[in-house]
Amino acid sequence: QTVELELEAIEKGGYEHFMLKEIFEQPRSIADSMRGRINPEDATLLLGGLGSYLDKIAKTKRIVIVACGTSWHAGLVGEYLLEELARINVEVEYASEFRYRNPIIKEGDIVIAISQSGETADTMAALELAKSKGAIILGVCNVVGSSIARITHAGVYTHAGPEIGVASTKAFTAQVTVLSLIAIAVAQKKGTISNELYRELIFGLDAIPAKVEKILKNVDKVKDISKLFTFASNFIFLGRGLNFPVALEGALKLKEISYIHAEGYPAAEMKHGPIALIDEDMPVVFIAIKDSSYEKIVSNIQEVKARKGRVIAIVTEGDTQIPSMVDFTIEVPRTNELLSPLLTSIPLQLISYYIAVLRGRNVDQPRNLAKSVTVE
Ligand code: AGP
Repeated sequence: QTVELELEAIEKGGYEHFMLKEIFEQPRSIADSMRGRINPEDATLLLGGLGSYLDKIAKTKRIVIVACGTSWHAGLVGEYLLEELARINVEVEYASEFRYRNPIIKEGDIVIAISQSGETADTMAALELAKSKGAIILGVCNVVGSSIARITHAGVYTHAGPEIGVASTKAFTAQVTVLSLIAIAVAQKKGTISNELYRELIFGLDAIPAKVEKILKNVDKVKDISKLFTFASNFIFLGRGLNFPVALEGALKLKEISYIHAEGYPAAEMKHGPIALIDEDMPVVFIAIKDSSYEKIVSNIQEVKARKGRVIAIVTEGDTQIPSMVDFTIEVPRTNELLSPLLTSIPLQLISYYIAVLRGRNVDQPRNLAKSVTVE
């Protein structure tokens, strides 16, 4: 027993929980997911795992992404990226729904599964179904040699390293990193990306690990904010565009480890119902960085403040407008907005972590959950 506990302490590398260790590993895990794939010196990008399938993706008219949970959220970020950069129609499906829906899949269609473990039963079954209908099936997996990695025609590993905490953190940012690489590579192949944007994204990706590091240095502020919301019974997370999936992910993280009821919405959907929930007891987390939706988010924040909601905003470093409107802010460095989920997701992971710890929850092994869902 003592030996086991000591071993676990060593594995946690001085952190109180695996989840915190994995959150802090992200500068490295993101870098590892890009290592040998991008070379900022000559602005090249190579995804060896895709081989000739890169050509097939570039020629397809439609991609279906299948996944569950956090991986499904990464898939939604992938949808925005592939549509924006490579101009390919992407559908993101819950694997469990897709497999039982008699989905329309034609010979040669591309189906991409995203899975940290590579063992999720529904994702695996969705892929098998797609394969039986003649689809090209590709994988974005973290666990090397996992079942999904083995049945797919090709794929790109995430290289996040082993993730022990049940709540996925570094696997998510690694998935988003790899999906960004795929979208940029396909866009380059298709000629749908300008040279200027291509270079900006390659250099932007290269700079992400240092920017994540910077966010993690500011952890005390997140801790202080979390203390004030420890006993909230509900939370709403709002974002637009690429940061809408980040809002969903923020809500999932909080639900699974703190057991606080949380909802994520696209910020503009609020007025179609959820706004009725807003009062002085409702914490609302906005992802409100300086991107193309900035002005829209400003008015969404005004709508919440007018109803006395308590707003925590994730803002771009140096922003002064939103900080003057909200209760609390957490800054993230500036980056191209297409890469912003890699930064905005970090404070949300930290908020969930600290709230769960303050509530005395079993952060690494939340109740009713397993790391890998191998039954349907
Ligand atoms: C994430 O925090 C969850 N524990 C869960 O949603 C997870 O992402 C989902 O079960 C999918 O797992 P996979 O990536 O291993 O397929």
